[in-house]
Amino acid sequence: MLALFTGTLTSAAPADAAALPYQDPTLPVAQRVGDLLARMSLDDKLGQMTQAERAVVTPADLTQYRIGSVLSGGGSAPAQNDPAGWADLYDGLQRGALATPLQIPMIYGIDAVHGNNNVLGATIFPHNIGLGATRDPDLAQRIGRATAEEVVGSGQDWTFAPCVCVARNDRWGRTYESFSENPDLVSQMSTVVTGLQDGTPKVLATAKHYVGDGGTTNGTDQGDTQLSEAELRSVHLPPFRAAVQRGVGSVMISFSSWNGQKLHGHRYLVTDVLKGELGFTGFTVSDWAGIDQIDGQRGFTQAEVAQAINAGLDMIMVPNEWRLFLTHLKAAVNAGQIPMSRIDDANRRILTKKFEYGLFEQPLADRSYASTVGSAAHRTLAREAVRRSQVLLKNSGVLPLAKNGGKIFVAGKSADDIGNQSGGWTLSWQGASGNTVPGTTILQGIRDAVGSQATVTYARDGSGIDGSYRAAIAVVGETPYAEGAGDRTGSLTLDATDLSTINRLRAAGVPTVVVLVSGRPLDIASQVGDWNAVVASWLPGSEGGGVADVLFGDHAPTGKLPVTWMRSASQQPVNDGDGQTALYPYGHGLTYTTTDPDPEPQPSSCRVTYTTNDWNNGFTASVSVTNTGTAPVNPWSTQWTYTAGQRVTQAWSARVTQSGTAVTATGEAWNPSLAPGATATFGFNGSHTGSNPRPPSFTLNGSTCTAA
Ligand code: GLC
Repeated sequence: MLALFTGTLTSAAPADAAALPYQDPTLPVAQRVGDLLARMSLDDKLGQMTQAERAVVTPADLTQYRIGSVLSGGGSAPAQNDPAGWADLYDGLQRGALATPLQIPMIYGIDAVHGNNNVLGATIFPHNIGLGATRDPDLAQRIGRATAEEVVGSGQDWTFAPCVCVARNDRWGRTYESFSENPDLVSQMSTVVTGLQDGTPKVLATAKHYVGDGGTTNGTDQGDTQLSEAELRSVHLPPFRAAVQRGVGSVMISFSSWNGQKLHGHRYLVTDVLKGELGFTGFTVSDWAGIDQIDGQRGFTQAEVAQAINAGLDMIMVPNEWRLFLTHLKAAVNAGQIPMSRIDDANRRILTKKFEYGLFEQPLADRSYASTVGSAAHRTLAREAVRRSQVLLKNSGVLPLAKNGGKIFVAGKSADDIGNQSGGWTLSWQGASGNTVPGTTILQGIRDAVGSQATVTYARDGSGIDGSYRAAIAVVGETPYAEGAGDRTGSLTLDATDLSTINRLRAAGVPTVVVLVSGRPLDIASQVGDWNAVVASWLPGSEGGGVADVLFGDHAPTGKLPVTWMRSASQQPVNDGDGQTALYPYGHGLTYTTTDPDPEPQPSSCRVTYTTNDWNNGFTASVSVTNTGTAPVNPWSTQWTYTAGQRVTQAWSARVTQSGTAVTATGEAWNPSLAPGATATFGFNGSHTGSNPRPPSFTLNGSTCTAA
């Protein structure tokens, strides 16, 4: 059992404040760093490499253990969650840091990833996937600038943003944190870094997560990116090169692995490539407890600490067991497992940023920007970003809607839900449905656009609609999630609630506009043919009025898909240029001067037989699907919709999954594809609650089948 770190801390106390070179702002930063480093004890240096979560550290701890950085994890807010409450939190901790002999200020990190989203009342900008749809680096830079003001206005000085990950698998729960599947587009949008860092006020930015987190084979954070080095360099490295060229001050290391080796211990990629080849001169920071994962066991060991630091990690987001971390780190140094040159290099990098960002001259919160938090100017900017991120996927002529005359029906679980439209990383780590933050819901935006010129009726489930309405808008999609909670291994279809709402609107014979509020493309191929228009709204954030700006034509839609829109979830990963046929390709986006013909799936290219043997509340089904097209279908995926009472219980000769009423059958490992003319036959047992109707239609990879 290791004795926890209780050593006496020593360092040369400054004689007379401002008498020492490192405290003289007229001197070059490098000289100040050199002078300070020479005065620091080992304890001072190890503390600078330690980042603790605010909930597990006190100002006295910062003083005693020389801790150099504190963070707020997602949603980790002071009781008084407003700019003053945050600034008080910051100042309290900072005074603890300043009470150390050398008075080295701490630096406070927070995930301001779509605005300063932990702070109640902050402007919540669209998540990155929506910004990628704008194709506008200048807009991204302006958002970075506004975010810098709201971060400083709330007393922090470092944001763990932007994620410059390249999302290659929409099953990944962090797809929405990516600007695009295309590395060039992600690189172009790295202007957020410039917005955050190059202005007044400025905050330290973080390019994350280095490297390859969006390309793991199973679409998860902890996954393995199995690519050749050439592929890794062409797909996932360019945005980091762009961010480094923009002077990004920190880089966060990815939880993922590359060909089986954890990035948190990867000396070649972190030191040789990032710091050497790319010339990154800032400091690296681990991800949350990322070093715990190096050996695949719970917790972290002295060996993992040594491996991470020697790999080139400069600061460790411990974040809770920081005493144990200091114990292991000191033991590793004293055992010669980590050379002092590495410790000094890490400190030099960290202290350089602290000097550059003025922390020694103004260590306490600058409260003069508090009024920018949630300001009208920022909300106007956010609304511009919302409308420019809308992607019109389909329009049979129903859009733009007229503002005047008649009645418009609005429905859907995300029409009047600012929590859903904001998504994860909003007030809390995971975000939440409901009236969570101040702003404008999509419904309110529609009401504001129409005013008294027409009647707007809202019912979440669509009940009450009839043929007297001239149009219906269904705002549907995903509820909030973050990170692993958003990983989807199964269906990517709309849930039963959404499908039921849309069907109710359609059954009334009213032209239906579907607005998808989601962090990624959804599997809509088997339903989209029945919808009159579809808008990908992504996760627009607090300013939902921007959606109505497009629906009613105040601004024509200009958004273009930053990711390929699957024809079937079984295609995932599906990306531009991979040879698969998308429902909507990368770059697709209509506007109001042209309405493309419905991008229906190709003419039916499959034939299906479906027979059942029923008894009182069960049945056995036999299905055969024939590929009548001219191209192989690989992998094949057949989908259909049951009624609420029908459930698949046990299948054979195919993998059959059910989510709500949506059922998907895919080939087994031994029959993954269907050549032209080939037939897949499979069966399953099921249960029903009295009736067992045949599904209305079947699809094969998004194409509707003819019934044999
Ligand atoms: C999380 C995320 C990372 C975030 C960090 C601090 O696990 O992976 O993006 O910056 O922890 O909240």
